[in-house]
Amino acid sequence: RFTPTPEDKFSFGLWTVGWQGKDPFGDATRPALDPVESVHRLAELGSWGVTFHDDDLIPFGSTEAEREAHIKRFRQATEETGITVEMVTTNLFTHPVFKEGGFTANDRDIRRYALRKVLRNVDLAAELGARTFVAWGGREGAESGGAKDVRLALDRMKEAFDLLGEYVVEQGYDLRFAVEPKPNEPRGDILLPTVGHALAFIDRLERPELFGVNPEVGHEQMAGLNFPHAIAQALWSGKLFHIDLNGQHGTRYDQDLRFGAGDLRAAFWLVDLLENAGWEGARHFDFKPPRTEDFDGVWASAAGCMRNYLILKERAASFRADPLVQEALRASRVDELAQPTAPEGVAALLADRSAYEEFDVDAAAARGMAFEHLDQLAMDHLLGVR
Ligand code: GCO
Ligand code: MN
Ligand code: MN
Ligand code: MN
Repeated sequence: RFTPTPEDKFSFGLWTVGWQGKDPFGDATRPALDPVESVHRLAELGSWGVTFHDDDLIPFGSTEAEREAHIKRFRQATEETGITVEMVTTNLFTHPVFKEGGFTANDRDIRRYALRKVLRNVDLAAELGARTFVAWGGREGAESGGAKDVRLALDRMKEAFDLLGEYVVEQGYDLRFAVEPKPNEPRGDILLPTVGHALAFIDRLERPELFGVNPEVGHEQMAGLNFPHAIAQALWSGKLFHIDLNGQHGTRYDQDLRFGAGDLRAAFWLVDLLENAGWEGARHFDFKPPRTEDFDGVWASAAGCMRNYLILKERAASFRADPLVQEALRASRVDELAQPTAPEGVAALLADRSAYEEFDVDAAAARGMAFEHLDQLAMDHLLGVR
């Protein structure tokens, strides 16, 4: 029970379990982890997939021969364990050259370098069979108003994504891009700060069909937003291409806690949504095992992400299957929202006196919604007492 298997489609970034615990105030508390060991350990824990930034696998500045050797060992590990490389992403934030951005740096030579770094990594993603390419623009932003012409920055962001779209089409790669929003950190203000901003931006691209979003639980919550609602809108738009699961306590620094920590109720409604929507993509964890932990703690943290997902999946299923819940949903008229409001059109609506002239506004206003009863049932299921 609650034991993950590859069918659950859990996936982890190499940079998650591999995080050494370096933060703005303190040095690393753990030694580096060999990606090959990570792949083996994740497979043993029941993970299905693995993801990485170029620099997680191939240290920045490696020679061509070193690069090939790193890729070869990693590829061997994925083949031995049956682990899928489902997503690849590019590090455009660690090296000081990216201190002012990658795709939207004011310096044109840095923008051209950033694009080349990403194109090279797109080739690697295709070579390893990844179907999703994540783009998180952590350094695309500013700390002060005069530093960035945001409209021009969005022109350059669009230019970069249009070129990437053109490139994968020309190469015949079966690869789609997922833009990852974040409101701030490491920049004071990051461009495309929320799922809503990213969805609107994608609409302006030359090949919008190749672009979707990779929302991260904590990033929307850092902006004080409702993560399940963001996911629902991304699904509704056909734009949920990937997801980063983790935990966060409200509007503060990016905590990247293990999934299920932080806002547990949001996690419950998220799993309920993903499972009911028939989400077929990876359940990808982007978390950081706290720097208090040794390697036993790292693997316990990774296992906890998967265990919490499976527990919440069971709790959500028990909520949906409960006849009392079904009755409560009807009492709250949740199902009535599926009925179109005026399917016969405006003329018929105007002709319907019961819709307005004879409508009993006071009686309708007096109806209770019975949401508190419904929500307490959800709470009972979440807490395992029903
Ligand atoms: C964060 C971000 C990053 C990105 C990842 C992909 O927590 O600030 O989630 O972890 O997801 O680096 O580029
Ligand atoms: Mn994060
Ligand atoms: Mn992320
Ligand atoms: Mn992260």
